[in-house]
Amino acid sequence: SFEVEFRRLGKSVRVHEGETILQAAINAGADVAFSCEEGVCGSCETAVIEGIPDHQDLVLSKHEREANRKMMICCSRSKTPKLVLDL
Ligand code: FES
Repeated sequence: SFEVEFRRLGKSVRVHEGETILQAAINAGADVAFSCEEGVCGSCETAVIEGIPDHQDLVLSKHEREANRKMMICCSRSKTPKLVLDL
């Protein structure tokens, strides 16, 4: 598991195996858009403030992945113990 801080909400949560950041964000009250939940549509794109995502989507280019500035929260996870997101 890893920790995710939703900076604008002022909330931090732990995301466990079998749970997505998207689910955790909705549970925390974030107003987040989503559609496919499979990493293909791009609608759940979220800006990354701190931490390194473990990208699992099919949307971002190699360059965008390496930039660590945005992620698809329906399927991607975290390589670092904590992620800070602009939600
Ligand atoms: Fe489609 Fe996340 S909801 S990429």
